[in-house]
This record gives sequence, structure tokens and C-alpha cells, in this order.
Amino acid sequence: MPVSVDHEKCVRDFKCIDECPVKIFGFSKEEKKIVIAPEPQNICIKCGHCAAVCPEGAITLQDFTDSDFIEKNKNEILSMENIEYILRSRRSIRAYKNDQVPKEKIEELLGLGFAAPTGHNSRCVDFKVVYEKEKIDTYRKMVIDWMKYMEKEQPDTAALLDFKHIIEGFEAGFDGIFRGAPHLIIAHASKYAPTAAIDCATAIAYLELGAQGLGLGTCWAGFFNIAASFWPPLKSELNFPKSHKNYGTIMLGFPKHQYAKIIKRKPGSISWV
Ligand SMILES: Cc1cc2nc3c(=O)[nH]c(=O)nc-3n(C[C@H](O)[C@H](O)[C@H](O)COP(=O)(O)O)c2cc1C
Repeated sequence: MPVSVDHEKCVRDFKCIDECPVKIFGFSKEEKKIVIAPEPQNICIKCGHCAAVCPEGAITLQDFTDSDFIEKNKNEILSMENIEYILRSRRSIRAYKNDQVPKEKIEELLGLGFAAPTGHNSRCVDFKVVYEKEKIDTYRKMVIDWMKYMEKEQPDTAALLDFKHIIEGFEAGFDGIFRGAPHLIIAHASKYAPTAAIDCATAIAYLELGAQGLGLGTCWAGFFNIAASFWPPLKSELNFPKSHKNYGTIMLGFPKHQYAKIIKRKPGSISWV
């Protein structure tokens, strides 16, 4: 049984019934207790919400241990001011120190990436950390080769994305692909996971926001990410599992500068129905 209810502890507040996304729980008026749907293992998406929402600890899940849950401090509610500060302070960093980021720090950050929501709780997102400078140099050269190919074969797209200047910059010793970042993080997932692209982009957003707490800077490596999807030499160099595709890549390192100001962004339109 993947889920069980301790009826001694249960106070019948129906929180599990309300919050279970696949409606495993119900209430039996005859028995006056919470009941579980037949064969819950076939429908449970292992999100853990039932146990997390129960203040009495009445629910036990086969796939979780006590250490998978962290007690929330009821008095510790983040203010809107603090949340806004965290979200608005994030900047795309384009100047990095040469120092390598300790692997433990990167692992701590990736832990936050794995906390991001995934469609149907698929947990489909994997990360590849490009840690070594030599690899980054190889990938950069391959992206430039792809840009040169695009200039010949798809000149309109190449012009739109201004590949000419990036290639010229590269030849003059400027890194317009990775901005001198010492590391990359690539989010990849099975292309058969229905929400893979969104899941990876969301996980990357978590990484970009969380990096601030570790004194780290990030920036999407958009050109690399496109080249990694289309340029055969780079695809084969990256060597993802056969069913996997890269859906997002960020640069990572210690920022060279601290921003003095937050930038107000022009809002998009809002419509109401
Ligand atoms: C999908 C995506 C791809 C991006 N690719 C690049 C890139 O290849 N190089 C770069 O310097 N910035 C890249 N950026 C960063 C954007 O230019 C940046 O988010 C934007 O200018 C706003 O700045 P901010 O992130 O500091 O708010 C990318 C951003 C996104 C969301």
C-alpha cells in the first residue's frame, strides 16, 4: 500500500481530501473515517502533498521517509517585500570572476532546481554540469562553427540574431557565447515527458533565483542551447541519453560586479475575462 492513514492520529479535517491532486482520499460516512481509493498505487503521482498538509502526521507514504519532510515554521512567512526583492534583484550576469565554484556549492544549488514543479510530478529534469574549462572552450568553438554554417545556409536567421558580430568577437578573443563563465548547467529531460520543456525552464528559473543566495551569478546561454539542439557535432559531443533533449542552459560563476540598482521592467499587457 503506497499510502496509509493512522486513524488514531487523524482529526478528520479533510485537508488530504481537498489537496490530493488525483483524489485518492474520501470520507466514509458509515465508518466515520478517511478511506483510500482502491489500488492507489495506480493513480498516486507521489507528490507527497497529503502527508505535507497533515499537521497531525496521520499519513504515511511508502515512497517517503520522515527526512523527506521539513517542518515549516508557522511564524516564518516571507513578506511580499522580501519576495519581490529576491525576484527583482536577479540579473543576467555577463562578467564573471575566473574562480571555479566549489562542486558542493553547485550541488546545493541543483537541490533547489530539483524542488521546481514538474508536470504530473514527473520529476523528469536532469542536470549536466559542464565544470571544466576545456569542455567550455570546445563547446564555444562548436557554437561558432554552427553560426558560420547558419550564415551560409540560413542567412536571414543569422542576420536576425547578429551572428556576424558574435563570430567577429570570437575571432578577436571575446566570448559572446558564454561571457567568460567558468561553468554551465544544462537542464535536459526525456523528449517523451509531455511537459519537459516547461519543466526544464522552470527548474532553471529556480536555479537563477537560488544562485543569489550562494553569491553566484547566472545567465541563460541561449545560443549554445539552440546549437545543442540542432548542430550534429555538438549534439554528439554532449552525448545525452538517447531519449533526452537539452531544454535550457545557464552560465554559472561568481559575478565580477555587484549591481547597485534594481531595474524596473516595462510590464506586458494584462487582460481580464
Ligand atoms: C531563453 C533565454 C535565452 C537567453 N540567451 C542569452 C544569451 O545567449 N546570452 C546572453 O547574454 N543573455 C541571454 N539571455 C538573457 C536575456 O538577454 C536577459 O534575460 C534580458 O536581457 C533581461 O535581463 P535580466 O535577465 O538581467 O533581467 C537569455 C534569456 C532567456 C530567457
